[in-house]
Formats: sequence, C-alpha cells, structure tokens
Amino acid sequence: MKKIAVFTSGGDSPGMNACIRAVVRTGIYHGLDVYSIMYGYDGMIRGEIKKMQAHSVSNILQRGGTILKSARSENFLTKEGRKKAYDQLVNHGIEGLVAIGGDGTFTGAKVFFEEYGIPTVGCPGTIDNDIFGTDFTIGFDTAVNTALEAIDKIRDTAAAHDRIFFIEVMGRDSGYIGIECGIGGGAELVMVPETKTKIHDVVRSLKGLRKSKTSSIIIVAEGDEEGGASEVMEKVKAQFKNEDKEFKVTTLGHIQRGGSPTAKDRILGSRTGMAAVEGLLKGESNCMAGVIHDRVVYTSFEDCISKEKPLKEDYLRLQEILSI
Ligand code: F6P
Repeated sequence: MKKIAVFTSGGDSPGMNACIRAVVRTGIYHGLDVYSIMYGYDGMIRGEIKKMQAHSVSNILQRGGTILKSARSENFLTKEGRKKAYDQLVNHGIEGLVAIGGDGTFTGAKVFFEEYGIPTVGCPGTIDNDIFGTDFTIGFDTAVNTALEAIDKIRDTAAAHDRIFFIEVMGRDSGYIGIECGIGGGAELVMVPETKTKIHDVVRSLKGLRKSKTSSIIIVAEGDEEGGASEVMEKVKAQFKNEDKEFKVTTLGHIQRGGSPTAKDRILGSRTGMAAVEGLLKGESNCMAGVIHDRVVYTSFEDCISKEKPLKEDYLRLQEILSI
C-alpha cells in the first residue's frame, strides 16, 4: 500500500482534527502518500481529493470542527454514487481509506468495502459515544464538558429564581451525553432514550423533592420518547396548574458539537488516527480502531454498527441516588 486517503463524514466532533493530523503524519512517517478527501463521501464522488504534507495539518490539533469539512451524503446511498466514488479513488491511485465518523459513516464504509474491496479502517468520531467497539468516541468528552459549563450557569439562575429548568442535550438515539451531564451537573432527573421515564414519573419526582430544593434541573436527551425538552416541559407544567412554580427550557443544541477539544479527545483522536494507518499497513480492514480499557482494539464495522452499546447501569443508579 502506497497511497491512502482520509475523510470525515456525518456530524463533526471536536478531536476530528487531531485524528486527521495523526493519520496524515503517521502515513508520511511510514513512507505513504496521504490524500485528503473534502466533504466526506460527497467529496469522494466529486473527486475533491488532494495530497497532504506534514505541514498541511499544522496548527489544527486544538481546533474544533474538521478541516476536511463533513456531510451526510445522500448520493453515496446509491449504487451510482458509490461507483463514481470508486472511479475517483482509482483515478488518484488510492489503495486504502481512513473514515472518521459515526455509525452512518461506517455503514457506508462497509457497503463500499463489500462492493469494491478498498481496505478501510474507521476512527470513531461522534459526540454521541454510541459506537460499539470503543469505550469513548472522539468528541464525546468535549461535548459533555461544554454542556456542563452551560448547565452550571443555568443552575445559578435557576437557584436565584427558584425555577425548574428542562435542559435539552444532544443524542438522537443515545443517552450518553444526557447521563454524564446528569451526574456531572447534579441534575434532579435525567430523561434519555434508553430509559422509559414517563411524564408521571417526572411529576412524581418533582412533587417528592425535599422542601429545601427550591430549584431543579431536568436533563432531557433530544431523542427521549416523551419528546424534547419543550414538549416534556409543557406536559409536566400542565400537571402543576394550581401551583406557584416556574418552568423554563434551554436547548443547548449545536454548541455541544464545537469548541476546542479536551485533552482526552485530542489523545483519543491521535491514538485512533495512528492505529487506523498502522492497522491498514498490517492488513486490518472493514473495521474500526477503537480504545477499550486503554488499549487499541479493531472491531469489525459489522459489530460497530449492529451491536448495542448500552448505558452503564451503575451510572443511572448513581445519578438517581445522588439526586435525592
Ligand atoms: O450524531 C451527532 C449529532 O450531534 C446528534 O447528537 C444529533 O442528533 C445530530 O448529530 C444532529 O445532526 P445535524 O447536525 O445534522 O442536525
């Protein structure tokens, strides 16, 4: 293998740049030509491919977002789109790929590998931490810290006015951000897709709070089955009609996706980026380089996509016990 290419796809996450840097520099260190592909699979189809040098990735380690841009490609879902992408890679002589992204990215990479056989290793880049085969995903730690900073500020104003705040965090299908924010932010309640907390549970919990708790924070993951924070707040509020309680909603949204990556995310991005390239050189393919118990592990895309990574039961218990 002489020429490899790296791209980022799906939702960006802080630490992706550290990962890109590691891929480029590890490749060059091992004598490879390393190319970048802009805009993920869309850019692959359009042939937005260019050669990188060690200095092309200078001064990006500490930056959020992705210098390679990202996209959720509709065209790559089609056979014609993938054929175009393959032709572009062949034209550039690309013999190996590093795909940085989440489950959508790996689903695409798996199909592409099965059709065209270009060796591909993934790096887990998503704030959601919902990928099987790695303890943490690149960007998760930063997202939680960003959300916590905001939650701490909301806590100040909630306490000043004796208000109940419903704070929406990201996680369409995953409650990892929600539960860690709940523990780290001292939330009274956490609603995430993995647990089946109902509106009456929220009402009961709020009514059962000790008298000295005059303000409360409820974390709602955007993918909760009862709805987002606004919807949940309206339903709960309706149950407090005759009570003198004030309810507020804050949606943290995409601020959780940006910002300078934490040390953890820079290191995870760097480790998995290097492992992806060295994995390709050792013959790894159709798999993701993750870190489990502090060791690099390669897990098949099939397992990364299809196996569940359940929330830690002891985290749920911890949050519940500490919120009394
Ligand atoms: O997968 C990362 C993520 O931030 C999810 O938490 C969120 O549901 C989704 O992406 C939002 O996607 P978009 O930026 O395309 O609206």
